[in-house]
Amino acid sequence: MSIFLPPTLTRRNLLAGVAGTAAATLLPVRHGLAGAPVVRDLALRAAPGRSALLPAPRGRTPVWSYNDAVPGPEIRVRQGERLRIAVENGLDEETTVHWHGVRTPNAMDGVPHLTQPPIAPGETFRYEFDAVDAGTFWYHPHQRSFEQVGRGLYGPLIVEEAEPLRVDRDVTWVLDDWRLGEDAAIAGDFGGRHDMMHAGRIGNVVTINGRVATGFAVRRGERIRLRLINAANARIFALDFADHAPLVVALDGQPVTPHRPAGGRVVLGPAMRADLVLDCTGRVDSRAMVVDRFYEGLEYGLVELAYGAEPLRDAPPDWPLELAANPLAEPDIGAATRHQVLFTGGMMGRMVMDEMAGSLGRDASGGGMMGRMRSMMGMMHGDGIWLINGMAAKGPVLEPMLTLKRGRSHVLAMTNATAWPHPIHLHGHSFRVVSRNGDPTPYREWQDTVLMAPRETVEIALVADNPGDWMFHCHILEHQMSGMMGVIRVA
Ligand code: C2O
Ligand code: CU
Repeated sequence: MSIFLPPTLTRRNLLAGVAGTAAATLLPVRHGLAGAPVVRDLALRAAPGRSALLPAPRGRTPVWSYNDAVPGPEIRVRQGERLRIAVENGLDEETTVHWHGVRTPNAMDGVPHLTQPPIAPGETFRYEFDAVDAGTFWYHPHQRSFEQVGRGLYGPLIVEEAEPLRVDRDVTWVLDDWRLGEDAAIAGDFGGRHDMMHAGRIGNVVTINGRVATGFAVRRGERIRLRLINAANARIFALDFADHAPLVVALDGQPVTPHRPAGGRVVLGPAMRADLVLDCTGRVDSRAMVVDRFYEGLEYGLVELAYGAEPLRDAPPDWPLELAANPLAEPDIGAATRHQVLFTGGMMGRMVMDEMAGSLGRDASGGGMMGRMRSMMGMMHGDGIWLINGMAAKGPVLEPMLTLKRGRSHVLAMTNATAWPHPIHLHGHSFRVVSRNGDPTPYREWQDTVLMAPRETVEIALVADNPGDWMFHCHILEHQMSGMMGVIRVA
C-alpha cells in the first residue's frame, strides 16, 4: 500500500472516492465515517474581482482571485485528512488548480493536458486528495500561470501537524509583487519578451496577504510561527529581520533541523516556503523593520514589527522547536541512479555556456557535460528562450524528458549554465538537497523547489514513489512559459 493512502482506506473506497468524484454530492464541511478518513469539503471559484492592494485613498485593483479574495481563502486541515475541493471556473479562459508541494495522486495534480483536461469557463472540476504531509503549501493555477497567478490567483494551504509546534500565534504571510500603474491597475504586459529572457516579471509593489504592509503588531516575549509563502511570479526575497534571529524550522513544508538562516537572511525564490519561529525580543514600544535585501541596491523595507506597550513575557519561552518528520521515503544515495540535468539559455546564456564548458573541460567529471554543452551551443542561435537538457518546451509538454524507475532512489545532478537564478520545482515529490557545487548541504533539507544560483550545480535525491507524469520546471513563471519546463515520468 502506498503512503498516499491513509491506513484506514481500502482500495474499494479509494475507487469509490476518487473515480466517483464527478458524481459525488457535496457533504457537510467536515465529517468522518467509521473506518474512513475525515473529509473536508471546500469550494473555490476563480473569477475576476477587485482587491485593495494599495492603501486608501488609492482605488481597488481589478484582479483575478479565488472566492473574491487575494490571497484566496486559507485552506487549513489536519494531517491525514482528505480534501475534496470543487473548483469552479468563473474566468473567460481555461484554468486548473495545482496544489503546490502536496504529494497528491497524479490525476489530482492540476496540470492541464498532462493530468487533466483544463477546466473550461463555467465548468467545475473536483479535486480529491489526502493531506499526507503536514506543512505550509499553496495552491495556484497551472494554466497560463504567468498571467493567472500574476493577476492574483493563489492561496495558502496549511496542513497542521497532529501536535503543532507550541507558539503564541501561528501566522501566514503570502508574499507577492505586482506591476501596477498610477491608476492602481495591473500592467497588462504579461509574457513580455524582456521579462522572459531576463529575471521574469518583477513588480513594483510588494504585498503581504494582498496588502501593502505597514506595521505588524507584536508583543515583547511573544513567540510566532511565521509561515512565509512566495507567490510572486519572479521576485526572490532575502528577508532580514533586523535584531531578531528567527529560526527556520521547515522549508517547503518539510521539517528541517531548526537553524538560523545563512547570513541572517531568509531566502525564498518563487513558490518556496519557510516556517520560522520568530521570538519577539524587542523592547516595548519599539519598531524593527524587516528588510528585503535580495537585489543589491534595491533593498526596501517590507514591513515594520511594531511592539505594543504591554510585554507578554520577559524572555523567549523555552518550548520545543522540532517538528515531527513527514512520511517521506529516505533516498539511498549509494544505490541511486544518477541523472544529469542541464539548464541553459536566457540573456547572456551563450556567454555562460562558453565559460562553463571551458572550466568543465579541465575537470574530468565534467567531460560528458562539456560535450553536451558544446553540441547544444551549436544549436543555439543567439540568446533567447530557456532549455532543459537542450529542449525548450513549446505549448503543453507531454513526452517525458526523463523516466525514473518507480520505488527506486534517484539523484538529479542539476547544473545551472545560465546567468540567472532559477527556482526549480518538481511535482508530486519532495527531494533532499544533498549538495551544492560538490559540497554537502548542512541540513540535507527536503524541498519541492530549489533555488539555483547562476553557474551552480545542485544535487537532489529522492525515492520516485509517486507514479505518473510530473512537471519539472522553473517557477519563475516567465521562464516556465518560454521553455524551462519538462516532464519527469515515474513508472
Ligand atoms: Cu507551483 Cu508547476 O507549480
Ligand atoms: Cu528560471
